[in-house]
Amino acid sequence: MGHRLGRILITQDEISLRVRELGQALARDYQGKDPLLLAVLKGAVVFLADLMRATELPIACDFIGVSSYGASSRTTGVVKITADLSQTIEGRDVLVVEDIIDTGRTVAYLKRNLLTRHPGSLRICALLDKVGRREVEVELDYVGFSIPNEFVVGYGLDYMSLYRNLPYIAVLEPEDGGKLP
Ligand code: IMP
Ligand code: MG
Repeated sequence: MGHRLGRILITQDEISLRVRELGQALARDYQGKDPLLLAVLKGAVVFLADLMRATELPIACDFIGVSSYGASSRTTGVVKITADLSQTIEGRDVLVVEDIIDTGRTVAYLKRNLLTRHPGSLRICALLDKVGRREVEVELDYVGFSIPNEFVVGYGLDYMSLYRNLPYIAVLEPEDGGKLP
């Protein structure tokens, strides 16, 4: 599984600046409301922790686990819920917090699934958007950064469960001739 950590794509400072801006946008858009931030496990946990401290709204948070990729990190197109919410979302202003939108399949599935539970509103906030990889059309309400088609790790994002703890986002590079998802 030859790979190595490549160049830093987004620095810690750039992330924290952008997260602060997103927090301010949420405060503006959800003024007078108490949205439920719904983080997608496990990748969005780091982003959620910073985002919820970047806004002064009275927010609640919850978690949902989905798996779209196997351990190999290769897409199967099949999405399933591995850990469900701990509460009903009926009538709530739900903001899904995702680490990265790649093909769009995971978030499209999530959106469909959550809408059947009749939230008051449903929006998507993704830290990263790999626009060039989209296979399913999906509207994103808040995006941290649009990034090129490269496999990235750090700030919650993993490769084979590693690198989530890096405070920045870096490109993962295959070692001579190897291939990453
Ligand atoms: P999608 O269903 O193809 O949009 O896949 C989204 C999920 O794939 C994300 O929530 C990540 O868990 C994973 N993923 C996609 N691209 C990357 C990447 O570059 N690094 C780490 N995980 C990724
Ligand atoms: Mg994910």
